[in-house]
Amino acid sequence: MQETESVHEIEMPAIPQPTFRVRDPLTITIFGASGDLTQRKLMPAIFTMFAQGFLPAETAIVGFARRDYTDESFRALMGDALKKFGRNKPSDEQLADFLRHVFYYRGDIEDKNAFKDYATKIADASKFPANHLYYLSIKPELFETVLARMHDAGLIGHARQEHWTRVVIEKPFGHDLASAVELNHTVRKFLDESQVYRIDHYLGKETVQNILSFRFANAIFEPLFNNHLVDHIQITAAETVGMESGRGAYYDATGALRDMVQNHILQLLCLVTMEPPASLTADAIRNEKLKVLQSIVPPRPDQVGRIAVRGQYSGGLMDGVRVAGYREEERIDPRSMTETYAALKLNLQNWRWVGVPVFVRTGKRLARRVSEIVIHFKTPPLQLFQTVECVGDMCDLTHSKPNQIVFRIQPDEGIALKFSAKRPVLQVQVENVSMNFSYSQTWQKDLPEAYERLLLDVMRGDSTLFTRSDEVEAAWRIVDPVLQAWRENLNVPMAAYAPESWGPAESLALIKGHDEGWRRPV
Ligand code: BG6
Repeated sequence: MQETESVHEIEMPAIPQPTFRVRDPLTITIFGASGDLTQRKLMPAIFTMFAQGFLPAETAIVGFARRDYTDESFRALMGDALKKFGRNKPSDEQLADFLRHVFYYRGDIEDKNAFKDYATKIADASKFPANHLYYLSIKPELFETVLARMHDAGLIGHARQEHWTRVVIEKPFGHDLASAVELNHTVRKFLDESQVYRIDHYLGKETVQNILSFRFANAIFEPLFNNHLVDHIQITAAETVGMESGRGAYYDATGALRDMVQNHILQLLCLVTMEPPASLTADAIRNEKLKVLQSIVPPRPDQVGRIAVRGQYSGGLMDGVRVAGYREEERIDPRSMTETYAALKLNLQNWRWVGVPVFVRTGKRLARRVSEIVIHFKTPPLQLFQTVECVGDMCDLTHSKPNQIVFRIQPDEGIALKFSAKRPVLQVQVENVSMNFSYSQTWQKDLPEAYERLLLDVMRGDSTLFTRSDEVEAAWRIVDPVLQAWRENLNVPMAAYAPESWGPAESLALIKGHDEGWRRPV
């Protein structure tokens, strides 16, 4: 008590807090602004940052698209979107205040005159500040054309100019290694790497950022992350949705491997297995992530059958409601061979992780929406204790369960440590229990949306949470042979799975021999 009081008497010097406010006046241009992403994610994120005072008063946001809107009708559309998709419902006053900063430019990105005309429109720096953030929310096949036209119209400033130009490129970045290399080449023709922000929204999730804090801000956990103690790692990104309206055409040309594994899941894998970075700078972190990707030896196409499973959901009941099978969905080829489920076994050939397989899986129409990473530890060298395990009324004595660390990316964000504890009974028996950290219980506040964090970082010029060109290519190098084997049907059948299941039965064989197989997140 005495001690505490004396501590309070000492006046501590104020700790300087890094400021996240954006200082530079800026113009945000969204190419492809009439798409879903603008309404669901981009505008709500920009609005929240604006309402919370992160953005300067001199901010202009321009939607660039082909549809026939005016400033007024676009503002009305965005106002409705904010009410529908915003994290917090805006008041009328907040909306009016924000929407004054929103403009619309009707133009076709396939028409090069539109870019010249747009450049003239935004040349008035008193209305459209000269620092420019361009968001390419457009079809990937148009990236190259749009960058070239932006360049020709003088929209892209030099990296070391007084005012900055930054370009955000949405995924998918290429559809295989060759196209990603080509796209990087094009991007480099027009932009310096420091001006490019390849977005992977998983990196903006609060819980994903917490992986590095958990590992490197604590002395006690990091020594556990290696092949002496870890048996295997599981990474799951499961979704209950099927093809939301309008998505079929994109998805059928993409599939689960390109849509989720090449980017989001491999990024999670990097964060959970990478070496400690020398600092928290963008390049220090990205260098370490790159090394992880380079340590994964891509399978030969003829080996793919042993390390990969693909599946497609069939029709059936989901939450008691009948849902269509994948091939019956809107804008899907009835003979489609696109996978809606993918599972892979990956091996890292590096000192720390050799011998520890990483099992990853993702799919649509699965039993639950859950993304998590689970570190499964080895069993103790000597099994001294037994545990009681019951299925229904039938109980049995078995060995104690191996420890697990569970990173719950979403929902119910948090981290759990699972371990054995003695049951309060006379016999010496242990039971699997959990130490749980939960964001909602600890901080009782909404987590920021990934796009808020990421857009703010672009405006502040911090590319830590964006993927560098070499990382993207290294990730494609891993999935390319799988895509090839699947395309050529090299002993990898397309397995069907029922909606509300955990994927095709074939995925069980992939993980056989490791604990109890795939974890069933509860
Ligand atoms: C996107 C994919 O990148 O991520 C979608 O294109 C997927 O198919 C989505 O549904 C999942 O994101 P989240 O944040 O809902 O897990």
